[in-house]
Amino acid sequence: MKAISLLVAATLASAVPTKHNAPGPFLTQVDNQTWIIGNELWNLTQGHQYGVQLFYKDHDCVGDAVGHYVSYNGAASDLSWNSASIVKKGSYQGTDYIDVMFTAVEGEMHWVIFSGLAGSYQYFVNRALPVLGEFRTLWRLDNTTFPRGKTDRRDEELPPLSDYIAANKVQDETWLRPDGKGYITKYDFTSWIRTQTYYGVYGDSFGSWYINPGKDYYNGNHLKQELMVSLT
Ligand SMILES: *[C@@H]1O[C@H](CO)[C@@H](O)[C@H](O)[C@H]1NC(C)=O
Ligand SMILES: *[C@@H]1O[C@H](CO)[C@@H](O)[C@H](O)[C@H]1NC(C)=O
Ligand SMILES: *[C@@H]1O[C@H](CO)[C@@H](O)[C@H](O)[C@H]1NC(C)=O
Repeated sequence: MKAISLLVAATLASAVPTKHNAPGPFLTQVDNQTWIIGNELWNLTQGHQYGVQLFYKDHDCVGDAVGHYVSYNGAASDLSWNSASIVKKGSYQGTDYIDVMFTAVEGEMHWVIFSGLAGSYQYFVNRALPVLGEFRTLWRLDNTTFPRGKTDRRDEELPPLSDYIAANKVQDETWLRPDGKGYITKYDFTSWIRTQTYYGVYGDSFGSWYINPGKDYYNGNHLKQELMVSLT
């Protein structure tokens, strides 16, 4: 049996210090296709496919966007969750955590949630993914809360959707800018994976970051690149 596990830590910026009096990490089942996970700082409402609401400091970071999902073959196959449970509960250096498992036909998505952490560790256990070129977890977040993108190569405002004019599309995911000065492509925020410290999107009050705590499990060599922030 193949078993790949991908480890990523997604975290929201401006964490407040750990509070041990508040309720710790939790999983709540709302109905057979809806769950809420989180801790005393944040919570995510997870539906059948999409993580649809992400509350942090009383602010919904998803808004009108799609939210969190796991997919392969590009956007062709999004995983559908059929159950959620806490598979491990413990304490690490005095901080409580839970490991929440969402199951899909293709495998298990885990969120390891610590008390007092404005984020979560994620890993996936492959049970039945086909042979493929891409597997990913991603967030589509509110574009008014997170107007800027950041990798180790770029740190700038994302072009507004209105800059992607159909008549200006010159080739695969590439558009002439409305002012005619240069191009925007879906892959502008691509970078080398091994040189990242963190990457994501942010605005004046909130940031959302992917932080890979280790890089030893990466495949490919030093030239391996990935699309880290996508505009469309
Ligand atoms: C989920 O719940 C609905 C009603 O609440 C029910 O009709 C449906 O059969 C349930 N689905 C599963 C997979 O249990
Ligand atoms: C999720 O966070 C929101 C905003 O902070 C809060 O109102 C709500 O009670 C939280 N939900 C759970 C289940 O903790
Ligand atoms: C933000 O997203 C909405 C909904 O998808 C879209 O209508 C709007 O144009 C976007 N704003 C910018 C600045 O791209």
